[in-house]
Amino acid sequence: MIHKIGVLTSGGDAPGMNCAIRAVVRAGLAYGLEVYGVNDGYRGLVDDDIFQMDRSSVSDIVNRGGTILQTARLREFKEESVRQIAVNNLRKRGIEALVVIGGDGSYMGAKKLTEMGINCVGLPGTIDNDIASTDFTIGFDTCLNTIVECVDKIRDTTESHQRCAVIEVMGNHCGDLALFSGIAEGAEMIITPDHPIPEEEIFASLKKLHDAKKKRAIVIVCEKIYPDIHAFADKIGKATGFECKAEVLGRVQRGGAPSASDRVLAARMGAYAVDCLLSGKGGICIGIVNNKIVDYDIYEALSLPRDKHISMLRLIDILK
Ligand code: F6P
Repeated sequence: MIHKIGVLTSGGDAPGMNCAIRAVVRAGLAYGLEVYGVNDGYRGLVDDDIFQMDRSSVSDIVNRGGTILQTARLREFKEESVRQIAVNNLRKRGIEALVVIGGDGSYMGAKKLTEMGINCVGLPGTIDNDIASTDFTIGFDTCLNTIVECVDKIRDTTESHQRCAVIEVMGNHCGDLALFSGIAEGAEMIITPDHPIPEEEIFASLKKLHDAKKKRAIVIVCEKIYPDIHAFADKIGKATGFECKAEVLGRVQRGGAPSASDRVLAARMGAYAVDCLLSGKGGICIGIVNNKIVDYDIYEALSLPRDKHISMLRLIDILK
């Protein structure tokens, strides 16, 4: 039976991380555990920036974006000697297990810590939805709604000026934010790593729209496909006749109050993570699959194909 657990957030922040922290803390306390917060992700473990949390530590945070524990990406955590410092810091406080809320980059650290004797459970906290072992990550829904809100605004002015808007959204190398927002917006074109479109085809389709006197065109593009989205928009302008403007939505996508859906997802996953630790599990990550909360071994999770929403790609072509 464990008595003390820790919780940290790692990688890019995501709306709903606070709800996940709250769920871990409140569930841990409900089961009589001592719960410790770690600031700054894995860096806080190494720097011994660890503090005890109580009920009030997580009051009034369900509606707050970001993460009250702060976050970081610590490359050095790949080194065993660095992880050993973290393990020593946890052991001296008697913390036996840890919940790591972050992207799949953070999962490997959680697995390695488990192999060094600290049972860890990973919760998928990232806007990118790029974790294969879960249908949805905490933060994705909020981010998607933020994108849709922004694109709604951009399309107003795009139509008034009869322009083409090329809108770059986040997602790292995962096209889900582009795919879902593109479908939600009825975008004329959606370009993702799983749905690349040759430049000539892009130009020809948009020129056809322009020649047919279409008032505006919305193109949603996943980040990291075009090294210079502004140069790409200029090329579209020259090739199609549309006046074309590039918009990079940037980090506005990561902020804001979490959606109800993300709050509930985070609550379910956070409580489940504590259940797993109490039953002695470690080296696992939590997911939601067909609306059921599940857990996977982290190595298995990291080897799964990232094709969970691939069937939606057909919508791009049949709804355009
Ligand atoms: O992983 C989340 C994410 O927002 C990605 O979509 C994006 O590529 C990256 O983080 C940006 O990170 P940073 O804010 O550290 O530059």
